[in-house]
Amino acid sequence: MDNSKIKRYTVTAALPYTNGPVHIGHLAGVYLPADTYVRYLRSNKRDVKFICGSDENGVPITLKAKKEGVTPQVIVDKYHKIIGDSFKEFGVSFDIYHRTSSLMHHQTASDFFETLYNKGVFTEEVTEQYYDEKAQTFLADRYITGTCPKCGNENAYGDQCENCGSTLNATDLINPKSTLSGEPPVRKETRNWFLPLDKYEEQLRKYIDGHKEWKPNVFGQCQSWLNAGLQPRAMTRDLDWGVKVPLKDAEGKVLYVWFDAPIGYISATKELFEYARLDVWNPKAEEYYINQSEVEKGSWEDYWKDEEAKLVHFIGKDNIVFHCIIFPAMLMAHGDYILADNVPANEFLNLEGQKISTSKNWAVWLNEYLEEFKDKQDVLRYVLTATAPETKDNDFTWKDFQARNNNELVAILGNFVNRVVVLTHKYFKGKVPMCMHITPEDQQVMDELAAAPAKISASIENYRFREALGEVMNVARLGNKYLADTEPWKVIKTDEDRVRTILNISLQIAANLEILIEPFLPFTADKLMKMLNYGGHTWESAGNVNLLHRGHQLNEPVLLFEKIEDEAVQAQIDKLNRSKADNTAAAAVTAPAKENIQFEQFTAVDIRVATIIAAEKVEKTKKLLKLTLDTGIDQRTVVSGIAEFYKPEDVIGQQVSLVVNLAPREIKGIVSQGMILMSEDAEGKLAFVAPVVKHNNGSVIR
Ligand code: MF3
Ligand code: ZN
Repeated sequence: MDNSKIKRYTVTAALPYTNGPVHIGHLAGVYLPADTYVRYLRSNKRDVKFICGSDENGVPITLKAKKEGVTPQVIVDKYHKIIGDSFKEFGVSFDIYHRTSSLMHHQTASDFFETLYNKGVFTEEVTEQYYDEKAQTFLADRYITGTCPKCGNENAYGDQCENCGSTLNATDLINPKSTLSGEPPVRKETRNWFLPLDKYEEQLRKYIDGHKEWKPNVFGQCQSWLNAGLQPRAMTRDLDWGVKVPLKDAEGKVLYVWFDAPIGYISATKELFEYARLDVWNPKAEEYYINQSEVEKGSWEDYWKDEEAKLVHFIGKDNIVFHCIIFPAMLMAHGDYILADNVPANEFLNLEGQKISTSKNWAVWLNEYLEEFKDKQDVLRYVLTATAPETKDNDFTWKDFQARNNNELVAILGNFVNRVVVLTHKYFKGKVPMCMHITPEDQQVMDELAAAPAKISASIENYRFREALGEVMNVARLGNKYLADTEPWKVIKTDEDRVRTILNISLQIAANLEILIEPFLPFTADKLMKMLNYGGHTWESAGNVNLLHRGHQLNEPVLLFEKIEDEAVQAQIDKLNRSKADNTAAAAVTAPAKENIQFEQFTAVDIRVATIIAAEKVEKTKKLLKLTLDTGIDQRTVVSGIAEFYKPEDVIGQQVSLVVNLAPREIKGIVSQGMILMSEDAEGKLAFVAPVVKHNNGSVIR
């Protein structure tokens, strides 16, 4: 969008599900980039509304409630507060953190549905869905487990298999079971309302093609959805938790959570204006974390229905299709609304080399971090922005956290500011000295300082926050280098006027840093502002080399950052290792025993000793090796998923146990004739199973 046409910004951050607290992956992927962007816009005095809230509908919340034996409302109340408080404590500066269980949201989502219904947008379709006769309820895909038809994992969910990553329909599962009653579900007909996405395909393509500037991961995913062809998608579900379908004959049905959740952005904006208009304190303001310091003029519609408003959605990569295809289609169907100008989705953050997992407690929870690293919000903000998964998945490690704190925040930013303020107090009673005579060396430093803000702006406006933060740190590096080169602590013995100039320029750099770090490190900016006794930041004055006037009194120096010791990070690593040990123990006991079989069933499996005589990696796969085996009967090819544990050159000559009478299967275009038996430990490590002494190939195993 042409910058000069933008009057207002509507910036949204994905509404987190309230079935657990938020962790560093959420912060790094969505909320920090969004907050940095918004703080930058505010520093530029742009008119911006920063919108978020709790996503309180949907199956995961009902599942969590079932598990804990409470109502869904109890769950959402609990996590709405935990999540809202965490955001607040980390300085994520929403104008409102709303809730989709609110009346405003139910009304807004319900009206939206009704409008589409009245326009005849939906198609009504009767389909067969799984139904639990014992629990007397239709089963959402997530409520059903069974065997994955693709990989044989016996604990696949009805919507996806977490083992092989396939997207599934519940009806694809072999031996489906209801997670509510444990019984096999029956198929039953039900009527739902579908959004015919196929009808919006052309319009969507035009929209997406008009945004070639989007991040390649986002643009690419949209193209592949469009190229695959869009299908109608049910916008209602048989469930008793959520926004009721506002039609007469829709008892027991609610809106699909991905229909109502993005409307949550709109209802939150409405709520913000509703309460901000009142000049009495409203208790809801607290529940919705509304910043009531400003009385709002204008209306929510200025932020949603006006071409001069720029809408930006910050999300994680698993949300792309919903924000770039389905929600835009809903808005198109409704009419009047603007569409997102950008959807800067991030990839995922891993933790110590492993995928973050709520169920395995493999995460750093924000609420726990703050207990263990009190007042160190900005350290985490810094590290997560510096390692943000902007273009690919990235890894958070505690060692890196410590190193970045000690070597960057303490040694570069903190050290520079501290030295300047301490020296000013030492030599000039804390008063900004006058700039006397500018050398070419000084001029060059001032020129570099003046050039920095434009670079940082360009990076932020193009959603490259890591790069922007790197540029900010370069300004601190510039300051450190200037001090090291000019050595005021030596020069003071011979030339006090020269030191006046050096410290004046250094203080201007420090004051600029206050402006430049604020979008990233708001708590530190605040401390620095107080230390410099200086009235704060607006981006337009960044680059100015006369922010602090001669004679201006500084406050006492305080340390911006402190070193993090080995023990503190070791404690975190130990904590993670404990969850790993807990998981391993749990996995070991829970591998369930299978049902008895008859002897004949066992002898039907023909297992032989065989030797691997050739091996190579299967191209474009991580896990697969193509093996040639001597079975004593013949030579044959077997594709085996062991590449993560064995290199091809290491397995040649290895004796194995081979199921020789398994029907051949094609895997990645290769016909695999048989299966090599492997033993698998609780962590998923694989090992060959072979006779303990060498036997002839073809020997029978029984
Ligand atoms: N709750 C979803 C998730 O955590 C995100 C919802 S974003 C919204 O993945 F647009 F739907 F609100
Ligand atoms: Zn699978």
